[in-house]
Amino acid sequence: MTMTTDISFTSTSPKSKADILVLPAYEGVELGGLAESVTKENNGYIKTYLDDQKKFTGKVGQVFTIVAPQETLYRHYMIVGLGKKDDATVLRYEEAGGKVAAALKAIDVKSIVVEGRDIDHEIGVHIASGISLARYDFLKYKTGKKSDEKKPLSVKVLTDQVKKAKALSVDLEAMISGVKLARDLINEPPNMLYPESYAKIIKDELKPLGVKVTILDEKKLLKMKMGGVMAVGQASVNQPRVVVMEWNGAKKKSQKPLGFVGKGVTFDTGGISLKPGAGMDNMKMDMGGSAAVVGLMKSLALRNAQTNAVGVVGLVENMPDGTAYRPADIITSYAGKTVEVLNTDAEGRLVLMDAITHIQKEYDPELVIDLATLTGAIMVALGHEFTGAFVNKDEMWAQLEKASDVSGDKLWRMPLDEAYTKEMESQIADLKNLGSRYGGSCTAAAFLENFVDEGRAWAHLDIAGTAYINSAKPTTPKGGTGAGVRVLDSFVKQNYG
Ligand code: BES
Ligand code: ZN
Ligand code: ZN
Repeated sequence: MTMTTDISFTSTSPKSKADILVLPAYEGVELGGLAESVTKENNGYIKTYLDDQKKFTGKVGQVFTIVAPQETLYRHYMIVGLGKKDDATVLRYEEAGGKVAAALKAIDVKSIVVEGRDIDHEIGVHIASGISLARYDFLKYKTGKKSDEKKPLSVKVLTDQVKKAKALSVDLEAMISGVKLARDLINEPPNMLYPESYAKIIKDELKPLGVKVTILDEKKLLKMKMGGVMAVGQASVNQPRVVVMEWNGAKKKSQKPLGFVGKGVTFDTGGISLKPGAGMDNMKMDMGGSAAVVGLMKSLALRNAQTNAVGVVGLVENMPDGTAYRPADIITSYAGKTVEVLNTDAEGRLVLMDAITHIQKEYDPELVIDLATLTGAIMVALGHEFTGAFVNKDEMWAQLEKASDVSGDKLWRMPLDEAYTKEMESQIADLKNLGSRYGGSCTAAAFLENFVDEGRAWAHLDIAGTAYINSAKPTTPKGGTGAGVRVLDSFVKQNYG
């Protein structure tokens, strides 16, 4: 990430020159307050322009850029549509912000002012957040022009409620930092990000923020008998790591932590059950679940969340080699259950089963939420729009759904059912890692459920379709998305602090 966005709030018009004045306007509204504040600034210049044009309807994300008269404080006015006032949501405002960020690309600007005095203070905050979320790139491997492309942007939001706006913005910026860290990790190439280097990055990122980071290396993992993690990673020169991150922010020290588990396959070739060559490069994103957990821990620490949380990520590289695990192998999980491997490309569940066991054994968490780019099947079902959520308690699902509604990280509930559980029983071991042809996401979830303690609240989020996108969305550029960070940060905030 090379672009930075500095957001600030003030109640009075700036005295010094800014590049652009952003003017948000609802659909169908006679430019209401907007026209008023503009009229004060410049004698109705914009109103006249819009009256003549008649093309600005205020639809979400519609952006009109007008050159400002010379004598004013601004070089340009940028009018942005917010959609219909009645069905406006946080996400709409962010989308409008994203569209502003896109329009800014065409103009060389260093500072903008967002007129938010006519509208609720929260709206200005969300427009600024949208701008920041959209302003992300990954240019660290482009030589030469890099420093020119840093382009920091100052976003000054005018609001009558400076204090409230700042308070809301601090938490959102913490979340955005977590999202951008997750994107960075996903976008890293697999020759740079492998278990050992990844573990070090996690430590370097989180330790300074007060998160305790413990790295378990391959020797330790062998000794502990984490059979799943070790089997998947055994053919790579880059040996596995399990990283534990602890955030202790609860007032009551004894509060049970919230548990988060992430799949961190830094590259998934499929192993001996080799994937086809076309598109295999996408499999650098197979650590997206772990990236979400790391990003979430960063968000919690940055906003000083008043809760205890622990994250466990299993980091491995799934490679084919003479030393690789094979289809037909029977391995013993950390929990002691045996698993018949029928496909070495169904490796994520083997990593997760051990990580899920570890977090329960060591930390007895209040609940466990795992995130994983687990199955291609979830993409067939939900595309790139929804994360598939398998949740074993209705109450927890209600909380997750609520968090999803305000976060833009959309979740869709998927079924856990005994029929799927049955499918994962092996003839000769306790379990097998492959189900039948259909319902692959459901059988994968059912497999994991075997490793969740009786009675423990658990959710499995399959982010295979949402962790990485090949075409940009208004606030999410191509590549790693950071899916999962936001919905879980909201979930924690809404229910635990
Ligand atoms: N990492 C993949 C799942 C995946 C596919 C993630 C596409 C993102 C995009 C996972 O390890 C995998 O290969 N799953 C197999 C499971 C099958 C062998 C049961 C799949 O989905 O085909
Ligand atoms: Zn795989
Ligand atoms: Zn995988």
